[in-house]
Amino acid sequence: MSRRQYFQIVFLQLLCVCTIQSLDRKFRALRYPPMEGLMPPVMPLSSVQDEMDCAMFCVKDETCACVSYSKLISFCMLMPEPATDYDISISNPMFHFYHFNVHEVRIETKEILTQGYRWHEAHQTALRFHYSRPKNNTESIQLCQQEGGELVTLQTESKLNTIVRILNNNTKLASAGNHFYYNPTNETGLPSPPMCSVLTKSGTFEEVTCDTEIPYICEK
Ligand SMILES: *[C@@H]1O[C@H](CO)[C@@H](O)[C@H](O)[C@H]1NC(C)=O
Ligand SMILES: *[C@@H]1O[C@H](CO)[C@@H](O)[C@H](O)[C@H]1NC(C)=O
Ligand SMILES: *[C@@H]1O[C@H](CO)[C@@H](O)[C@H](O)[C@H]1NC(C)=O
Repeated sequence: MSRRQYFQIVFLQLLCVCTIQSLDRKFRALRYPPMEGLMPPVMPLSSVQDEMDCAMFCVKDETCACVSYSKLISFCMLMPEPATDYDISISNPMFHFYHFNVHEVRIETKEILTQGYRWHEAHQTALRFHYSRPKNNTESIQLCQQEGGELVTLQTESKLNTIVRILNNNTKLASAGNHFYYNPTNETGLPSPPMCSVLTKSGTFEEVTCDTEIPYICEK
């Protein structure tokens, strides 16, 4: 049953470090974009041995894209969004948190998947469950495309079952509401605008207005 997998962790560097010099004084300032709506939820774990151990917790969580680890306090945080330069302000710099984006690497092809994606061999596809920043239908389509993917299609019963199992078994997804955007096909029911078809956790399809902001599932 055990799935052969390996993952790559990518050390993230701060992107914007500005040095300001004036007369006899020198300042160093870090600039962060506004944080509103950007803070991903974190799942803190304590007494984690090292950053690899921390990354292993991430690998086991279908929604984890990034970890932050502090050697100083053996503290590990799992995050559903990739780290960018603003994430440094999640943590107290005193504790020397380092951020790692976690990428699954496909065994056969050595392809490095986008962070947060998990390879599903049985369906020959990689899936990513976006729940922490709910989006409307238009935006969910665009955001999947920005990652090089698209909203997931659910043509086969077994793929649908896999997804429904994950939606119910992952603790974060289980508390992320009951509606998820996917890519409707004839088989799953084409909705008429302004209504959009959504997947429920019980594996059925319902309709919501397309401006409803809910979690969504991408594949590539
Ligand atoms: C649900 O998750 C638990 C713990 O991660 C695991 O042991 C169990 O096999 C999972 N159940 C299903 C149906 O995948
Ligand atoms: C899906 O719908 C399109 C347009 O109505 C139609 O041309 C096509 O044959 C349908 N495909 C299936 C598998 O039903
Ligand atoms: C979706 O959200 C974007 C950004 O908030 C907004 O510009 C757009 O009008 C929304 N689209 C719909 C159909 O609600």
